[in-house]
Amino acid sequence: MAEVTLKNLSKNFGTDIGVEDISMTIPDGAFVVLLGPTGAGKTTTLRLIAGLEKADRGEIWVDGRNVGNETPAQRDMAMVFQQYSLYPHLTVRDNLAFPLKSPILRTPSDAIERKVSEVAEVLQISHKLNNKATALSGGEMQRVSIGRALVRDPAIYLMDEPLSSLDAKLRTDLRVELKRIHASLGATLLYVTHDQIEAMTMATHVGVLNEGRLVQFGTPREIYENPNSLYVAGRLGLPRINILPVDVFQNAPVRATHIGMRPEHVHQGDGLEAEVKRVEHLGDLTRLHLTLNGHAITTVADPTMTYDLGTAIKIAPKNPLFFDGNGNRIR
Ligand SMILES: Nc1ncnc2c1ncn2[C@@H]1O[C@H](COP(=O)(O)OP(=O)(O)OP(=O)(O)O)[C@@H](O)[C@H]1O
Ligand SMILES: [Mg+2]
Repeated sequence: MAEVTLKNLSKNFGTDIGVEDISMTIPDGAFVVLLGPTGAGKTTTLRLIAGLEKADRGEIWVDGRNVGNETPAQRDMAMVFQQYSLYPHLTVRDNLAFPLKSPILRTPSDAIERKVSEVAEVLQISHKLNNKATALSGGEMQRVSIGRALVRDPAIYLMDEPLSSLDAKLRTDLRVELKRIHASLGATLLYVTHDQIEAMTMATHVGVLNEGRLVQFGTPREIYENPNSLYVAGRLGLPRINILPVDVFQNAPVRATHIGMRPEHVHQGDGLEAEVKRVEHLGDLTRLHLTLNGHAITTVADPTMTYDLGTAIKIAPKNPLFFDGNGNRIR
């Protein structure tokens, strides 16, 4: 496995920005998740690294080697695409074995068979090994295409929203599996998604993309606790962070226009009166939906307490985040 570094990587499509001036280091053995909404430049970043797209500007380094002029094969990366791509005339077994049958690798056939069984087991697809690739559900096809990457031992795995077509149960199972595979192989992974749960549960590092730019890079915890903009604050955390005009509360810094409060940072007991609008008892916690001067606020509350609709409770922000008129964090 390898360390991959991007230096000022840019790519336009005509007048559209694909990615703009992206610099980051994916440490050897890291599980980096690129998070961003549709059109943010996630797929473009992966395709540039894999060599499927040529950068307008910038460099890509793999373990100290500039790979800018290398072919995709020379770069030795395994990519899982957003749209699965299998050989339809081959069985699942042969699809999985295919990347290992390259004449350069000369993998012995018993080693191929062992690897294929192991990966099929992990992806819960063993019972379909003799099926034609076309005789599978969408979710099964996507698992086979993940498997085709996992049979290899590349410099880095590049994965483009590999779980998005799967049902919730399988998605949860495979999140756990990918994390386990990452830990046991010591693999370096760059994984792209717009799903913040995937980012929070799997990543060692998260890069947040906005309109082709990398706007923050850090551990999931750093990004959650210390977002550098309103945009980043809104990308992690479910329910979303509460954003209110700053004049609702006192003692804000001078340039601040907005205050951000995570639901768990709405402190009860003293402060301003808010009205209870909706109560969701979720078992381990209770979620309260309040209004304060007409602004909606979501909080978490003690599940052993009872809250009546229409009553008032007092709240104050704990660990508030302040933002200026451009949406930048004021520290
Ligand atoms: N081949 C292409 N030709 C023209 N424009 C493109 C091409 N590929 C990407 N773009 C543009 O580049 C920008 C980034 O696209 P990209 O596919 O990287 O986004 P994404 O973050 O992967 O989005 P999604 O979540 O929808 O997959 C978009 O504005 C897109 O329209
Ligand atoms: Mg994409």
